Amino acid sequence: MTGSLQDKASLLEVDGLSVEYRLNGLSLRAIDDVSFALRAGEAIGLVGESGSGKTTTAMAIAGLLSPNARVSSGEVRYRGERLPIDDDAAMRPHRWSETSVVFQGAMNALNPVHRIIKQIAEPCRLKLGMSRGGATARARELLELVGIPADRGFAYPHELSGGMRQRVMIAMALACRPSIVIGDEPTTALDVIIQAQILKLLGELRSQLNLAVILITHDLSVVAEACDRVMIMYAGRIVEDGTVAEIFAQPKHPYTKLLIDSIPNPANGKKMIRPIPGDPPNLVNRPSGCAFHPRCPSAIGICATEFPSLDEFGQGRVACHLHRSSQEDKVAAHA
Ligand SMILES: Nc1ncnc2c1ncn2[C@@H]1O[C@H](COP(=O)(O)OP(=O)(O)OP(=O)(O)O)[C@@H](O)[C@H]1O
Ligand code: SF4
Ligand SMILES: [Mg+2]
Repeated sequence: MTGSLQDKASLLEVDGLSVEYRLNGLSLRAIDDVSFALRAGEAIGLVGESGSGKTTTAMAIAGLLSPNARVSSGEVRYRGERLPIDDDAAMRPHRWSETSVVFQGAMNALNPVHRIIKQIAEPCRLKLGMSRGGATARARELLELVGIPADRGFAYPHELSGGMRQRVMIAMALACRPSIVIGDEPTTALDVIIQAQILKLLGELRSQLNLAVILITHDLSVVAEACDRVMIMYAGRIVEDGTVAEIFAQPKHPYTKLLIDSIPNPANGKKMIRPIPGDPPNLVNRPSGCAFHPRCPSAIGICATEFPSLDEFGQGRVACHLHRSSQEDKVAAHA
């Protein structure tokens, strides 16, 4: 991991992590050499198009990778200790109690035949070894924490709105008192008003519980509201990383610029998300050099052949031949 990002105060360190999936005899590298650190109470947004490796990164950190996945390099450390992320049994004591995940559309996964309160109390009993009465009391407390009156816990899932069900999922994610919550598109299925309420709730929980948050989204505008830092992923790699203020004011990577440009902006009459031209790359047969070069409006000769490393810039990092201080001569020679 690059020097300044390695930090004793880090809660979580992801160091050179690569994950491959085996499918029909083929191997697909879904994330490649991903490194970053997360401090207690910090919120990082993980942004990128579909297939860029956001969920794989989250699942690897939480030790929830699917059976056909393999960690091919790197490691994840929690409070300085290496996590056994590729060992299902060894990961059991860590899962949900250190890092928990609120999945996309998870609110539809609630069991329709059980009351909400029972579904929240269950992990408290199983994971924390609480008595039935203690677990119910904890479930009531968790409901209040996420803004649902405790007595509503006697409702069945179908009696609650989508926003309320997502609050229940957040309550369940908090059951074992994790220090990190990963939200994988937690607001995607909700309308904008409810989406704003859920983001506000995550923000309140962050300051109340000193929770660190990794918020996964396609939508940079969500990150602007809810995060301190943003990491942009493309084809399984982090291509840019910086504070929200830096990234929005001075994006360096051409892909980040296009992402920002695609955000609807009522101020200048841009009402629709403008899609980025071209298709995301095929990860089984990824492009040579910079994976973004076939779509990049700023590509230069070197981009098709040479891979840009992720270099530090101020408080952030960027992987682009146009922004490599040590490569200025090379870029000039190929331009
Ligand atoms: N279980 C799996 N088996 C094989 N390939 C997988 C599996 N899960 C994900 N992939 C592939 O790994 C790559 C990264 O997928 P991932 O789900 O991490 O992306 P994502 O950024 O979360 O995308 P989305 O925004 O669509 O959720 C994609 O090419 C995807 O098809
Ligand atoms: S390295 Fe080249 S192709 Fe890749 S983003 Fe930078 S300019 Fe574009
Ligand atoms: Mg995903």
